[in-house]
Amino acid sequence: MAGITNRAFRKICTFWGAQFSFTEMISAESVVRNFKTVQRMLPKDEPNVAVQLFGNDPKTLAQAAKIVEPYAAWIDINAACPVKKVIKKNSGGALLNDLERLEKIIGSVKSSVQKPVTVKIRIGFEKNILDQIVHSCIKAGADGIEVHGRTVVQKYSGKAFWDLKLSQYGISTAVSGDIFEAEDFHKALEMSGANSALIARGALRKPWIFAQITQKRTPKITEIKETFTKHLKMQIEDEGERSIYKMRQFVAGYTHGMRGAREFREKFMKLNKPEDMEKAIEEFFNSFLMNECNNKIVEWIEEQS
Ligand SMILES: Cc1cc2nc3c(=O)[nH]c(=O)nc-3n(C[C@H](O)[C@H](O)[C@H](O)COP(=O)(O)O)c2cc1C
Repeated sequence: MAGITNRAFRKICTFWGAQFSFTEMISAESVVRNFKTVQRMLPKDEPNVAVQLFGNDPKTLAQAAKIVEPYAAWIDINAACPVKKVIKKNSGGALLNDLERLEKIIGSVKSSVQKPVTVKIRIGFEKNILDQIVHSCIKAGADGIEVHGRTVVQKYSGKAFWDLKLSQYGISTAVSGDIFEAEDFHKALEMSGANSALIARGALRKPWIFAQITQKRTPKITEIKETFTKHLKMQIEDEGERSIYKMRQFVAGYTHGMRGAREFREKFMKLNKPEDMEKAIEEFFNSFLMNECNNKIVEWIEEQS
């Protein structure tokens, strides 16, 4: 997810059990012309991260893929993004309206790298033409596809379509869209016939969703507190103290469903020093645990009397 899945957050997802992840989408043009500006987005000490590129020119994408290949577990091409700025440049989801170009991009990237090449797609631009899109990807040599079960025009409206019949294609497939709980994960996998399922917004809302799926367990509040603090430290270590504002987008997830969370979030949003954030996390979670403990004691006393 652009603006979200940086190194620190990817590592947190891996810690909870995600088996692979993707970088934020990276402009192929920037990789080729101004590598320094995008270098921090690339995986470092992470074994199973695909680097996702977006762009429109087959040659530039091929050059960019070659440059990022040493950092990547594999290369992923974005043909799904519905954001206006991206579509205007005939990149992302706009490529689903120009399958000939998409094929050229895939072919050109494939021939410039050794590692596998996958393509992130939606079911169509305006209407469902998934079958046609998948055949184009296969014809051009893609090793796999990830399908968000909506059209580009739909953006995030309606419900993601999981009945994708992906097992018929004989390449590696992943289903994406509206997986917010472990049950959704299993249902999406079964309904789509995909080999794997991707979690985007669900990981932001509840980063430990991966533990619920892979280990069938929900972590204790103390574990969530420790991970929140660890995440903050990793963010600082990787991108410096000035980047801690990025932690604000995770606070709702880490405190999801907890009593007093709204007030805490409001307070947290105003903090801009690492030590203040760390202290606030410590105080909020400790006071939550203390209240829970008191409530249990009261319940026990009431049961006895
Ligand atoms: C804030 C945000 C940023 C996203 N950025 C990307 C991206 O860079 N590349 C990509 O392939 N998909 C991106 N997506 C789409 C997700 O990968 C996913 O396909 C979509 O959100 C549906 O899945 P979900 O219901 O699990 O969120 C983004 C989604 C969100 C909400």
